[in-house]
Amino acid sequence: MSRVLIIESSARQQDSVSRQLTQTFISQWKAAHPADQITVRDVAVNPVPHLDINLLGGWMKPAEQRSASEQASLDRSNELTEELLAADVLVMAAPMYNFAIPSTLKAWLDHVLRAGVTFKYTETGPQGLLSGKRAFVLTARGGVYAGGPADHQEPYLRQVMGFIGIHDVTFIHAEGMNLGGDFQEKGLNLANARLAQVA
Ligand SMILES: Cc1cc2nc3c(=O)[nH]c(=O)nc-3n(C[C@H](O)[C@H](O)[C@H](O)COP(=O)(O)O)c2cc1C
Repeated sequence: MSRVLIIESSARQQDSVSRQLTQTFISQWKAAHPADQITVRDVAVNPVPHLDINLLGGWMKPAEQRSASEQASLDRSNELTEELLAADVLVMAAPMYNFAIPSTLKAWLDHVLRAGVTFKYTETGPQGLLSGKRAFVLTARGGVYAGGPADHQEPYLRQVMGFIGIHDVTFIHAEGMNLGGDFQEKGLNLANARLAQVA
């Protein structure tokens, strides 16, 4: 039995393409791995707090010096980090907003990139601590960017995942969602065909 953690981040519900991709992923994954446990964390519906002075204090200060707010921030951050630590498979759904990921997803990343927990500094540089996990990133984009210089999603998320030790990362992009003609249909078909291969 593996644990699958899905992070949803589209601000849309019904019309969201990235949510459609995660639904397809979930149904195909369940069919292929019926015993797996799937957890969905929706950072658009329930946003996690931005990194602030309380969170930094909670991370840095010894327990006896933490204020109640710092302790509460730390508890919240621990919950998110432990959820990721417990997962074998991470699935991030990421609409493209302004060439990058939603700020809600960035806020979640700011909680789970934790020195001493998900990565550590060594004499030879930083070392990721989450070895053995797989990740899938399901993106939805209005235009077409894959492999080009304006794609600030894939290179950034590869960097971040690699930093915490997740090197097995598969990207599936649904591109051209806001373009005319048959771009949308073609983009969706391509993404669904790739999804069918991975589960
Ligand atoms: C605030 C906002 C910013 C967006 N920025 C971009 C962008 O920079 N590039 C792009 O190709 N599409 C952009 N889009 C279009 C979305 O990426 C596209 O509609 C995608 O399907 C959204 O994901 P969702 O369907 O899961 O909500 C933007 C949409 C919104 C609402």
